[in-house]
Amino acid sequence: MTGNRPKIVVTGRIPEPGLDRLRAIGEVWAWSDDQPISIDVRDRELATADAAVTLLTDRVDEAFLDAAPNLRVVANVAVGFNNIDVDACRRRGVIVTNTPGVLTDATADLAMALILMVTRRLGEGERLIRSGTPWQWGMFMMLGTGLQGRRLGIIGMGGIGVALARRARAFGMSIAYHNRSAVSADIAAELEAERLDLDTLLRTCDVVSLNCPYSPETHHLIDARSLASMRRDAVLVNTARGPIVDEAALAMALRDGTIAAAALDVFENEPSVHPDLLGLDNAVLVPHLGSATIETRTAMATLAADNVVAVVSGGSAITPVG
Ligand code: DGY
Repeated sequence: MTGNRPKIVVTGRIPEPGLDRLRAIGEVWAWSDDQPISIDVRDRELATADAAVTLLTDRVDEAFLDAAPNLRVVANVAVGFNNIDVDACRRRGVIVTNTPGVLTDATADLAMALILMVTRRLGEGERLIRSGTPWQWGMFMMLGTGLQGRRLGIIGMGGIGVALARRARAFGMSIAYHNRSAVSADIAAELEAERLDLDTLLRTCDVVSLNCPYSPETHHLIDARSLASMRRDAVLVNTARGPIVDEAALAMALRDGTIAAAALDVFENEPSVHPDLLGLDNAVLVPHLGSATIETRTAMATLAADNVVAVVSGGSAITPVG
């Protein structure tokens, strides 16, 4: 507290509308550099913080919480919260919030874009032009595969999975999914979606999209064994979290033709990318852009800020985790 105004630490750059909401109710200390905040500076500011706004690159662990004895809320500017030790926060009475909903469309758009990019070989085409390699239109040049009549298997059928399914339907794809619970009857009917066990989905789908949260249960869900069970002409798309995929196993599967191609927005040891993937033409690689639109990042920042405002004002968090 500074006077009777709460102190709010923002650990990285976020869009101004989010900061404005925080400034209206508290004293805001915000890291404003593109380089990550140092632990020393972070801990110095956390020592007197009532609230923290964090990014998915922050580790909110026991050390973070030790540095912040007065903390009441951690508002993560992301829907994923695998960077936060939620149990440790709960034990200390610290509320954790995330930003579900507001990034659903942007992330589904990106997943669909990656499906198109990888099946129509757009990355390869771009690299060809930019490399200055001579080319001319050819009947058999850089042939890809169409999506019409193909089957999309979605692992993790939450909001983003459903939004992706809607887009894929518009491209003529049929939908299968694997999820702990079934989607509502209305959504199942709208999408004509079939719920499958994981093995059947992997064995039968042309495109497999990962849209599930990362947790100990989904660590390396896609490994050498599951890749071997996929069709040889199948494509894997990951817009969820990198460590759901065993990247070394994926690189090997792409190299030896176990599956046809992959498109990745997220990486196992982000921001590093497995070196074997970098030279593969059948791997599309983009730098964690799922929610990267101006509108979406602004909505994420304002929702995180609204969560802080709600909690420090004595109300309930809007989108608590757990
Ligand atoms: C999230 O919110 O978890 C996304 O990965 C950010 O793009």
